[in-house]
Amino acid sequence: MNRKYLIIITAIAGAIWLQSCTEKTPEKVEKNVQYVSGKDEVTYLKIGNEITDTVQATLKANLMKAMENGGPQNALRFCNAQAMELTAMYSQKYGTDVKRVSDKNRNPNNAPTEKELAVLDDFKKMLKAGEPLSAKVAIDADGKKHYYAPIFTGGPCLTCHGNPKNMQPELVSVIDSLYPTDKAKGYALDELRGIWSVKFKNS
Ligand code: HEC
Repeated sequence: MNRKYLIIITAIAGAIWLQSCTEKTPEKVEKNVQYVSGKDEVTYLKIGNEITDTVQATLKANLMKAMENGGPQNALRFCNAQAMELTAMYSQKYGTDVKRVSDKNRNPNNAPTEKELAVLDDFKKMLKAGEPLSAKVAIDADGKKHYYAPIFTGGPCLTCHGNPKNMQPELVSVIDSLYPTDKAKGYALDELRGIWSVKFKNS
């Protein structure tokens, strides 16, 4: 083959290769989460922590009471992120949208968005690196502030999210009939179960 053609072909191949590389970049940037620091971080961490601590405490109290009264099957309906009255109250007070999401979700409505998945990945990387995890504040593409916090499994959670072999068989069958696409079994203690995701719509 003529040397000139070879150079041209190589150049074209190179250009295509380069283009495919540059094409990938915007997608990656899109997925990156822009965390904020300074005054905004302090402000929104404080409100985010207040909201998630309160909702979490209420969820837990309801769950425990229901478990005592009628066992885990009775408690099933209480492990619901929409501790309705509370989240509605916060929505009014701070203009928030409060969610609990997981990549291994029980309810498909609690599946993460791409951004939330990126935050989950960031948290997992930090865990792997042995870094301590704590809540973070990010800024969404629309400029609104967004609070994220890790959710870990504690002992009582494994009653319904643990290894199915160690769970009550009746409970497993109720969960499976209520949530046919359940991915939220098989957890061990102190694992990252998901994240709180609180968007400040008026920020
Ligand atoms: C009595 C059973 C039960 C117990 C105990 C329980 N959960 Fe759940 N969990 C559920 C059910 C049922 C859902 C689905 C709720 C819904 O439909 O939104 C759920 C959903 C979740 C979700 C939302 C994401 C998803 O998978 O849909 C998180 C996060 C979660 N649980 C964490 C926990 C943690 C942390 C604990 C321990 C503090 C715990 N759960 C204890 C039954 C339970």
